[in-house]
Amino acid sequence: MVRPRPPLSFPRLSVGRRLSALAHGRPSSLELLGNRYPTDSVTNLTPAIIAKLPLRLHTRPSHPLNTLRTLIESHYPDFAHLSSLSPLVSPYKNFDELSFPQDHPGRAVTDSYYVNKDLMLRTHTSAHEVEVFRRGEDKWLLTADVYRRDEIDGSHYPVFHQMEGARIFSADAAGMKEVEEDNARLRHHLAQANIVIEDVPHISVSNPNQETHDPLHSELVAQNLKLSLNSLMLTLFGGASERGSAPLRVRWIEAYFPFTSPSFEVEVFFRGKWLEILGSGVVRQATLDTANVPNKMGWAFGLGLERIAMILYSIPDIRLFWSTDERFISQFTDREITTFQPYSKYPSCFKDVSFWTPQGVTLHENDFCDVVRDVAGDLVEDVKQIDSFIHPKTNRTSLCYRVNYRSMDRSMSNEEANEMQLQVVSRLQEQFGVEIR
Ligand code: PHE
Repeated sequence: MVRPRPPLSFPRLSVGRRLSALAHGRPSSLELLGNRYPTDSVTNLTPAIIAKLPLRLHTRPSHPLNTLRTLIESHYPDFAHLSSLSPLVSPYKNFDELSFPQDHPGRAVTDSYYVNKDLMLRTHTSAHEVEVFRRGEDKWLLTADVYRRDEIDGSHYPVFHQMEGARIFSADAAGMKEVEEDNARLRHHLAQANIVIEDVPHISVSNPNQETHDPLHSELVAQNLKLSLNSLMLTLFGGASERGSAPLRVRWIEAYFPFTSPSFEVEVFFRGKWLEILGSGVVRQATLDTANVPNKMGWAFGLGLERIAMILYSIPDIRLFWSTDERFISQFTDREITTFQPYSKYPSCFKDVSFWTPQGVTLHENDFCDVVRDVAGDLVEDVKQIDSFIHPKTNRTSLCYRVNYRSMDRSMSNEEANEMQLQVVSRLQEQFGVEIR
């Protein structure tokens, strides 16, 4: 999440040849979190992203993401709580170990950040499932910063925070008895709560049980997953309903992830809208086999912390989480969810750029956005492609983007925006060989 669009389904396929954006003056190595790593032809990390690596907002005292993490951790007091794993992982760990097919679009350089062919920034906390299960943890939560190349708007940021939760049981009668007991406990707890749940079958033709799983075991585990998460949703969003108002509404939806089956998404009805909160499912046995715990089975979920924090704190723009402005930071205290008091909104400055891309080169929207982020940092609010056409005679592609520059903290001059736009333009020319129109 989780983000507004389906997580890790990576809907945008990148086609065509692409000029290696950094081939131009790419350093031969990069220093990341105190170590040096060689670069190569796939390197696409930008200085703006590198600067985020040490920040770890989810561990900053009184930061909303830290409070949300602690709140979820206290909902699962007997789980191991992990939050300090390095964001640098191999593509093998991020994808292969989790049964992602070779041609999965999430692997593309347009969608993920690569240090080099063998090292990338994790795109989700699931990247650590195998290693944590291998350590022998049976119930755990893991919070971390994750990185995805994306477009720019109020709810997307190339770095965000996820929390992975998992629980596994022994895949035998004793383990299943434990599941049944826990299910009974959770059912009892939920029966007394002001919550309405729209469910889907635990297993169906389109959301199948894994071949190696006894369908009865799979049913029990999926039920445990659902009960456990319904109870978490009540902890996070149920505050209002306890005070005698409308019940909390939670709905379960069939989903697909390469590393779980059956798989589900959870949505919560909040302030008049259904909001996607998390992805989850029964862990693929291949993951547990690789982790050297073949005799276990269980569930996992992954949720997006910004998404939930924006809802709970009424934070209107995802850039605010990165703000160092006292007017933001000083509003919050540890372990308390309060409504964000917006300070004045400063004016926008729109700048357009139109250009021809060189023959045979695809400039992905994410490439464009990374250039803008690198120049403008958090002074960019959103980027929209406002035009795209192919010249009927020359076959050349023309693109036009509109960049909205706006500071969250201060009034910005038109000259400042012009200056940034000029830099964007010259980087586009240098790195991608575009011809400005
Ligand atoms: N890792 C998935 C994502 O980022 C979420 C997920 C986690 C789904 C665990 C299933 C199980 O979207």
